This record gives sequence, C-alpha cells and structure tokens, in this order.
Amino acid sequence: MKKSIVLVLVVLMTVSMLLAGCGNDSTASESAASQEASASATGESAPAADASEGGTGTVSGKIGILMPSVVVARWADDAKSMEEAAKAIGLETEVQFADDAIETQVMQIENMVTKGYKALIICPVNAEALTEVLGKAKKAGVTVISYDRLIQGTEDVDYYVTFDNIKVGEVCGQYIVDALDLETNQGPFNLEIFTGDIADNNAKMTLEGGMNILQPYIDNGQLVVKSGQTTLEQTATKGWATGEAQNRMDNIMSGFYTSDKLDAIFSTYGGMSLGCIASLQALGYGTDEKPMPIITAQDGELAIVQAVANGTLSMSLFKDTRALAKQAIDLTAASLKGETVELDASKFYDNGAFEVPTVLLDPIPFDKSNLDKVMIEDSGYWTKEDIYG
Ligand code: GAL
Repeated sequence: MKKSIVLVLVVLMTVSMLLAGCGNDSTASESAASQEASASATGESAPAADASEGGTGTVSGKIGILMPSVVVARWADDAKSMEEAAKAIGLETEVQFADDAIETQVMQIENMVTKGYKALIICPVNAEALTEVLGKAKKAGVTVISYDRLIQGTEDVDYYVTFDNIKVGEVCGQYIVDALDLETNQGPFNLEIFTGDIADNNAKMTLEGGMNILQPYIDNGQLVVKSGQTTLEQTATKGWATGEAQNRMDNIMSGFYTSDKLDAIFSTYGGMSLGCIASLQALGYGTDEKPMPIITAQDGELAIVQAVANGTLSMSLFKDTRALAKQAIDLTAASLKGETVELDASKFYDNGAFEVPTVLLDPIPFDKSNLDKVMIEDSGYWTKEDIYG
C-alpha cells in the first residue's frame, strides 16, 4: 500500500454488463464506501456501504462467491453473510469452497465465467495463481472482487476488500511488548513467531506489522527467538492450519525449550494459536507453576473467542466478517450498476500490477478485559451462551 498518496481517487467503473432496470443513483454506496474506507483507527467497525439503500437502481443476475476452504471456520460465515446481503438486493449466488487446492479454485472460476456469472468475489487459495483465469473473466466483462486476501500480479481485479493487515501485526506485536512490559523490564524473554500461508499476502503483511514493533527488541536482546526462525519462509504455516502450527510448535519446543521457558508467541491467526496451545498443553503448560506464554491471534471464530475467555489465549482481533461481506456485495452491486465509487487512494494495496482500489476495515483487538463488550454487547457476533456455555 502506498501510504504517500492522500488523494481521493475517482474510480470509474467500466463494467460492460449493465443490467436491465439499472438506475444511476450512486449516492448511498459512494458515501458509505468512502466512510467505510476511512473508518477511524479507534477500532470501531464502520457501517457497511449499502447499495440497496436509497438507490433507484436494482441489480439482478447471478454472482459467484469463491472461498478457499471450510477448514478455517470463518470462510463459511463470510460466504453466508455474502449470500444474505446479495439476496437482499436481488442477486442470486453460488458459493464454492476450493478445499485449499489451487487447481480446484481455478476450475471453479472458469466454470462460473463460462456460465455467464456477472461478478466473482474471490478469496484466493494462492494469490499468484489466478492471472490467466482472471484474464478470461475480464474479457467476458465479469466484475472481480478480491476478498480478504489480495489477488496478486494482475490488473483484472476491480476492488479489494480487507482488514488492515499491517495493523493486525502491529497490534499483536504491541500486545506482547506491553504484556511483558518491555519498556521497563529488560528480560531477556523468549519469543517464537507464527505467520500464515506463504501464498497469502496477509501472512507477509501481518509479519511486517509485527516486526515493525518487535524487531527493535529482538535487535537489543530483550526478546530472543531461540529457534532463530524469523523470516516469512521460516515462520509460515501452510493453509494457516492448526495441525501445521502444532507440529512446528512441537519441533520448536523439543529443539529449543527442553530447559528454557517460552514467554511469548506472536501468531496472527487464532487457529494457529490453538495449535500452539495444544502443543504446549501436552508439555504441561497452562498451570499455575507453568503458565501459558503470552499468545496473540486474529479472527473472531467461536473457538478462538472461547480460548480468550478461558485464558489459554491472551488476545485476538475481531474481524467482523458480516461487515466485510456486506462491503463486497455493495461494491459488486455498484459495479454492476456502472456506478462511480470514490475510495481513499491512501488505502490502496499494490498487487504488483497496479494499486488496487481497496476498502480497508478496522479489526478490533480484544482480550479477556473487553471480550464481552467487543464480541457480545457491541457487535452481537456471539451470545453469552455461545461463548460461556
Ligand atoms: C487470512 C486472513 C486471516 C485468517 C486466515 C485463515 O487470509 O487474513 O484473518 O482468516 O486467512 O484462513
């Protein structure tokens, strides 16, 4: 993302597939989209843009929603929210999960293009593997939205909707600094690092954010990474998978912590953090004598929230999948109506081919102290019974 640009760019939508009965009232989606794009850094989730409000234009036809897998629980929730938001404005949907397989996702996209779908909302399994198939989609006039993960290396993407990934890493890093009180406490403390799938730009960005905060403390010796594994390649977790993280944690613990204590784990997805926790519990961590290290996470899946509630996981960042889903559908609708959407160019993400018009939502950090407020009272994302039984 180029931070230096602070102009508001007018993105002219040139989608050829204008639909019957389309009006050109773009006010609602324009203002809400820019509002969303400039959501404050207070952690408040801005209301989603709403193409269904106030406009005379309607949309119709079918769109494809392509999610990476059902292994990570949130993708099914994201898809469900998108289906509901699409239905509310008259769009039909087909949802496909790719089983984390690149070829499957490419095939699914190809099929949907062949079937004449108007738009595709894609969370890529592999961000760099879609150039060819999206070339075909663009030729067919299909609107393409990159969902949560940035599709790389192609201009054939209309919009990107995501949460601020650098901020996710920075918040996790800062949580560790504060929890260990590194401003006053010299340590040294032992830290290990877990990032996501190497084919997902979010893994790179969250690590970058984390290192913005943690690197100075690693450099001055207050934090020690005993495994020596700090690069993206060394810390990546295939498929962001719980089992993969657990295996790597097992290896790190047996290789470097047979006599030393682990104080903190920087992890940017709760599923991976839960893998680390399972590994540590098997080694007797999680008691008064041997407390769990500080462990960070991301996402608001139930198992993650419950782990924060029961104190095994220190914190996470709530990414409201409903808001992201709504944003994707509303940009799709605007695009299908041929509307002009204004977005804040300072938030655009560079995908290696161009600066992709991006809507950036704010993730909301929570730990035990504000869990009820963030996850139950303010958002209604989960109920008290969901979390505490
Ligand atoms: C990332 C996303 C994370 C998490 C992860 C697991 O792309 O940014 O929030 O959901 O995928 O699939």
